[in-house]
Formats: sequence, C-alpha cells, structure tokens
Amino acid sequence: MNISASQEQKFRALLGGIDADRRTLRMKEYIQHGSTSTYDHCIAVARMSYRIRCRLSVPMRDRELVRGAVLHDYFLYDWHSYRGPLHGYHHAETALQNAVRDFEDLTPCEKDIIRSHMWPLNLFCVPHCREALVVCLADKLVSAGETLRRRSRIHRTAGDAV
Ligand SMILES: [Fe+2]
Ligand SMILES: [Fe+2]
Repeated sequence: MNISASQEQKFRALLGGIDADRRTLRMKEYIQHGSTSTYDHCIAVARMSYRIRCRLSVPMRDRELVRGAVLHDYFLYDWHSYRGPLHGYHHAETALQNAVRDFEDLTPCEKDIIRSHMWPLNLFCVPHCREALVVCLADKLVSAGETLRRRSRIHRTAGDAV
C-alpha cells in the first residue's frame, strides 16, 4: 500500500514530534518481533494506519489516529522475558496505564485506540471509534509482516548452514 510524498509529509506533521519525544523513545529499548524494536513497530503501525485512513472517504480525527497508534504498545517491558499474566491479553491495559501516566493530554479516542488494539483477542475490549478500528487492523498487518520477515530470515540462515 503506497503513500504519496504529500501524504508522508502530512503524516510527519500529524506526528507533531511525538516520535522524537523522550518518553516515546523509551520503546527503543524493547524488542517487539525479531529485530524490530517496539518503537519501530509503533511508528510502522502509525504510518500503516494513516495509509489505510487515506483510502477511506470518511471523516477521521487524523492527529488522534496517529498519536494513538504511536502509543498503542507503550507497555515498556521486554515481553520475551515477561513472567506476568499472558502478555497478549494484558499488555494493552498496561500500555494504556503507562500512557495515561506519562501523557496527561490523551483524548478519549487515543485511549480507546490503545485499550482496544488487541481486539478480537481481547474480546470485550471492542473498538468504539473508527480510528481504533483502523489501528486494530494496521497493527495486525504490520505484525504479520514483521513475523513473516523474521521467519524468512530464519529459513535463509538455516539454508545457509546446510
Ligand atoms: Fe499490542
Ligand atoms: Fe502492536
């Protein structure tokens, strides 16, 4: 799914510097899938959300869409060595608690995006706004791509070793 140069420019403007915020940058310390940091994953989901949004001819809160997407996995721990309750089910709530603590100006839409991004795995955390639905879809597309790239890298490495 391509994005034009002007859309990319608009996307950068919508980020409004949140991608360079020292709180957001903390996500660089954690790995999401393969060699992709949680930070890179979240920026990729924000860009994918905006790409999907550009294909839809319905009104949307673009700034909240992008900001919510950037913070959707703001859980701030290494889930590979996580010993708590099932990460898949609980990290959205942890991300929301962290985001509310660290970003005092979160809107209801941004909170909804973070809280519901694991739907339908979190069956009862249904997205309540269209921005949350878009991020929910974008997260699955980006995560699938990151996982597939990692698997093909592993297969290539295994092939090289034979
Ligand atoms: Fe997530
Ligand atoms: Fe995610």
